Amino acid sequence: MAIKTIIEPFRIKSVEPIRQTTREERRRLLEAAGYNLFLIPSTDILIDLLTDSGTGAMSTEQWAAMMRGDESYAGSPSFTRFRDSVQAIFGFKHVIPTHQGRAAERILFSVMCKKGDVVPNNTHFDTTRANCEFVGAEAVDLPVPEASQPSLVHPFKGNMDTAKLAQLIERVGAKRVPLVMLTVTNNSGGGQPVSMANIRAVKEICARHAIPLYIDACRFAENSYFIKQREPGYAGKTPRAIAQEMFRHADGCTMSAKKDGMANIGGFLCTNDDAVAQHERDLLILTEGFPTYGGLAGRDLEAIAVGLNEALEEDYLNYRIVSTAYLGDHIAKEGVPIVQPPGGHAIYIDARAFLPHVAPTEFPGVALAGELYVEGGIRSVEIGTLMFGEHATMDLVRLAIPRRVYTQSHIDYVIEVILEVWKRREAIRGLVLTHQAPFLRHFTARFRPLAMAPARPATP
Ligand SMILES: Cc1ncc(COP(=O)(O)O)c(C=O)c1O
Repeated sequence: MAIKTIIEPFRIKSVEPIRQTTREERRRLLEAAGYNLFLIPSTDILIDLLTDSGTGAMSTEQWAAMMRGDESYAGSPSFTRFRDSVQAIFGFKHVIPTHQGRAAERILFSVMCKKGDVVPNNTHFDTTRANCEFVGAEAVDLPVPEASQPSLVHPFKGNMDTAKLAQLIERVGAKRVPLVMLTVTNNSGGGQPVSMANIRAVKEICARHAIPLYIDACRFAENSYFIKQREPGYAGKTPRAIAQEMFRHADGCTMSAKKDGMANIGGFLCTNDDAVAQHERDLLILTEGFPTYGGLAGRDLEAIAVGLNEALEEDYLNYRIVSTAYLGDHIAKEGVPIVQPPGGHAIYIDARAFLPHVAPTEFPGVALAGELYVEGGIRSVEIGTLMFGEHATMDLVRLAIPRRVYTQSHIDYVIEVILEVWKRREAIRGLVLTHQAPFLRHFTARFRPLAMAPARPATP
């Protein structure tokens, strides 16, 4: 009989101790952090599921490649290896390194957008929205209707609503739409994949209006694997071939290599347009660095060059997708409401359904994330009213799984903690916002528990 257990496809060479704290310590730490888990030192976290971004474990091949890093200011062979590795998968003519994804976004929007423009996306990630709005353009989310129903199972909930895209372009005029973006997988929409058919359909609409299509490619390998598993006609193709096909439909991309680049830092911006690339490189020099390093060390470029290929290995992707689903399936089985089906890099708990007695204006996602910390030292993140303000259609708590970091027993522990909090959910209170910054407020916001608030309505 064939062995069914799917194991971590690696063995551990170097270990990093994690520290237990008491419930009382965690209560105090949470209060001191203004109920914002971003403000708690990582040494006081037991299992850190805040993000899958830059938190992965590198392979022996990546560490070995880093030793080859050439730190020349200009023309480093590390850049050549990085560019060749990116081009072999992504296929774009110009590859511009940046220190992380948002730097690529800032440069892209500064070059392509101006005040009054409109940028459609399946769902803008927070930094994407912020960078788009910072140059005065309007960021419009056009997810398919299925995306707003957390419990609904659909293979490609990350898809863009193509009818709405066509209507939007018709309404505002193609001249005001400098680019269309597709985020694969759709992080803010539950880590859900975008199908190849949807990418093709979006491209067709863009092509009719001569609008370039850009892919926010952070989790391109996970998206490719979902296509292989779920889309007719792709089962026999490699994730690499699927990724190459995805990018053939696009005119450029932004990438945070902290996700499917398997690196701890880095990103890039790609385009096929010579004039746009020239303008982007001019801006790059201003804030990121010379175009052959773009704010990265030569060794970082080497780690990404190797990591992009490792992210496409089938054994790795199978383990990655199955182990994320393991967490989701185990808590869903006990009744915990999650975004279905489980995403690629994270499980998203539906905080509005978990805490129906806490209004969205009382930040159910922030309250739930705080309780998971108090119960078991787990750090997660709210994706909802705090992150998106009035644009929020859901209040989710994201449990993002760092790549190649935690074992199944860590995840079993996380399941136990969530189920303990689930048992006492009715006693959990909402929060009142006491401090917020003008941009990306979730990073620094502070709260106090609603019970201690004066008797007036909370504001988002
Ligand atoms: C979909 C998406 N786009 C863009 C970014 C921004 O990348 P970075 O954090 O490297 O700036 C992220 C990061 O989490 C993301 O998930």
